[in-house]
Amino acid sequence: MSEKPPRYASWTAGKLPLPELAEMKRRGDRIVMVTAYDAPSGRLADAAGVDLILVGDSSGMVVHGRESTVPVSLEEILYMTQWVTRGARRPLVVADMPFGSYEVSNEQAVANAVRLVKEGGADAVKLERGGTSVARARAIVEAGIPVMGHVGLTPQTATVLGGFKAQGRTAQRAKELLDDALALQEAGCFAIVLEAVPPAVARAVTRALAVPTIGIGAGGDTDGQVLVWHDMLGFYEGRAPRFVKRYADLGEVITEALARYAEEVRSGAFPEERHTYAMPEEELAAFEAALEA
Ligand code: KIV
Repeated sequence: MSEKPPRYASWTAGKLPLPELAEMKRRGDRIVMVTAYDAPSGRLADAAGVDLILVGDSSGMVVHGRESTVPVSLEEILYMTQWVTRGARRPLVVADMPFGSYEVSNEQAVANAVRLVKEGGADAVKLERGGTSVARARAIVEAGIPVMGHVGLTPQTATVLGGFKAQGRTAQRAKELLDDALALQEAGCFAIVLEAVPPAVARAVTRALAVPTIGIGAGGDTDGQVLVWHDMLGFYEGRAPRFVKRYADLGEVITEALARYAEEVRSGAFPEERHTYAMPEEELAAFEAALEA
């Protein structure tokens, strides 16, 4: 729980109103979403003018070095959501519901979504898949919490899908994907992520839905786009999916800065006098006298 709950007025001041997302779709204004996992990245995403921040369970892989998103816990997402919401003011912050936090029952899903909003400060939550997730989404929406759906490649159930593979590539799978998206919309989801699906399928789903679609590896015709922070900024070492565009190579910038620091520590070039604190001369003299006594 954040130490000092903000007052209602300051809590909502400057926040992008959720209904504005549907208006953006109607106007044809593209929605920008990025993941973030701590206060500085929340602050920077806000400063860059993004609309939505996802505290994604991708953190399990890009931040915590795991092989998949499956082991990520509710507590981890909760902490990161608290950090991000301390940094970000205008963007709506969506907390990912990790695997195991909503599958068991509607009651489990609502209880955990409430924690992410109440303790984490999230504005909304996201869950993956159609199927039983539709009922979970409906229950969470009925509890008063905005829900974002996620269909296509759903990393939490990648084993069932046969790995981290593009989805909706047959007529039947594309139709199932569309049906899942429609069911999630009908359950009350305010937006739906489409991950790793052919552009033609993403286009058809986007046209069929009244709520915005946010694509990742779904081509340019979705209502918005999302990328993972570490992938797009170039400090994730693993093989990035083909849909990632690197907007910076911060990994290289950081390594170069650390190498210079190491070199200067070893040579004695750092720290310089300007990096130190002064002491009044008489105090120094008294200290030296005390040392000699
Ligand atoms: O966890 C995550 O970052 C996600 C995005 C890839 C949509 O779910």
